[in-house]
Amino acid sequence: MTTVQKSVYVKTYGCQMNVYDSDRMRDTLKTMGYAETLAPENADLVIFNTCHIREHAAEKVYSELGRMKRLKKAKQDKGSDMLVAVAGCVAQAEGAEIIRRAKTVDLVFGPQTYHRLPDLIARRLKTGDAIVETEFPAEDKFDALEQQNGHRVLNRNVSAFLTVQEGCDKFCSFCVVPYTRGAEFSRPVSQIEKEAGQLAEAGVREITLLGQNVNAYKDKDSATLADLIAKLSHINGIKRLRYTTSHPRDMDEALIEAHASNPKLMPFLHLPVQSGSERILKEMNRGHGIDYYLDTVSKIRAARPDMALSGDFIVGFPGETDEDFEDTLKLIETVQYASAYSFRYSPRPGTPAADYPNQIIDEVVTERLARIQALIHAQQTAFNKSCVGKTLPVLLEKAGRAEGQLMGRSPYLQPVHVSGQKTQIGAVLDVKIDSVGTNSLSGHIRVVEA
Ligand code: SAH
Ligand code: SF4
Ligand code: F3S
Repeated sequence: MTTVQKSVYVKTYGCQMNVYDSDRMRDTLKTMGYAETLAPENADLVIFNTCHIREHAAEKVYSELGRMKRLKKAKQDKGSDMLVAVAGCVAQAEGAEIIRRAKTVDLVFGPQTYHRLPDLIARRLKTGDAIVETEFPAEDKFDALEQQNGHRVLNRNVSAFLTVQEGCDKFCSFCVVPYTRGAEFSRPVSQIEKEAGQLAEAGVREITLLGQNVNAYKDKDSATLADLIAKLSHINGIKRLRYTTSHPRDMDEALIEAHASNPKLMPFLHLPVQSGSERILKEMNRGHGIDYYLDTVSKIRAARPDMALSGDFIVGFPGETDEDFEDTLKLIETVQYASAYSFRYSPRPGTPAADYPNQIIDEVVTERLARIQALIHAQQTAFNKSCVGKTLPVLLEKAGRAEGQLMGRSPYLQPVHVSGQKTQIGAVLDVKIDSVGTNSLSGHIRVVEA
């Protein structure tokens, strides 16, 4: 039997959970005979896995769809065709509106329905009608994916993502995630263990456990994230474990303790606080105050003194005064982040904060963003410089850009460049750090003496 090779182009926006979802779609499509292409003009199927978190992220998709309209027309003129699919959080939030705005789109499906992709493609090809599928279905998406992929994972790198928890029940007043990803749900430990084992077999050496609120993980038997991490650290091939994104409210004692006792759990934690102002945190509905956050950070550092912390900050939340903003800078000074992200507040349709009075004017936000970014950059540079002269265990992930160069990651997630051989990819080797670049470290592999 000969199968005609088809090709798919996938473009991913947004968070790591979308990266994971795109990988799973690629796995499924591969079993359906789709090879991946990096050139959309060659593709039979184009998928945009989208993000709705900020306005800018959502708008990018529509400009891409304009380009696809032209590519599709060119293909049709030559007698072939191209299916255009919009997946992810914009698909979930806007549904049929996407097809009204961009007629070139054939398929719209959300983060909870992408396991139905084979059926959606078949239906589209048979009927010729555009399809929108954005409900939250009752069947287990992960079970369905496992069936389709023949119980294999394909095409992973040394470091891979694994979604263990989805959705959010916290409803921060600025955020679309509870609407696009739905209610909190945790996959059973046994299902995750199996997938982690498959990843290890496929050559994965580091797994980052993912969830919109990953540390709120609780499976049907009440296993927590700490329990899950303990289980996964028994998988031989897996040398490193990470998890993201954590909510300060769910940073429990057992998880903090795991950082003290489990050598596979890396000393890096992304723990967003969004603002350093008590009042703004309340308006954001974050459910905790500043003292609680700082206390949590102290406990984490007591358990693991070299813990590198990262965070997210929203600048220009409605009603943010100069004083509130100064409080945020103060909190950053107190915590000393190894890295952090700051975002201009973006009013999102349907979220409470979009209707708050006192939206902050652009000029003020721009000025505040410049200040916060300068402070974060200085802290990141200081942290990177503090690594010079140290020897760090580096997981070598892939070939670097230059010939004979490899790229790896320190325990603190910093990219590290070294000279080395491709056969060393997948190994954790001691690297002496020699210098610091803009966002990375350079060093040399220490020869282990016999
Ligand atoms: N669950 C995570 C965050 C997920 S969204 C948490 O609670 O921390 C990732 C980041 O996007 C958030 O931490 C926040 O800083 C930013 N973000 C979310 N909504 C935003 C909005 N409306 N405008 C600007 N930034 C936003
Ligand atoms: Fe959004 Fe808040 Fe949920 Fe994070 S905790 S995903 S910021 S609503
Ligand atoms: Fe974006 Fe959806 Fe992730 S809105 S940040 S892709 S959960």
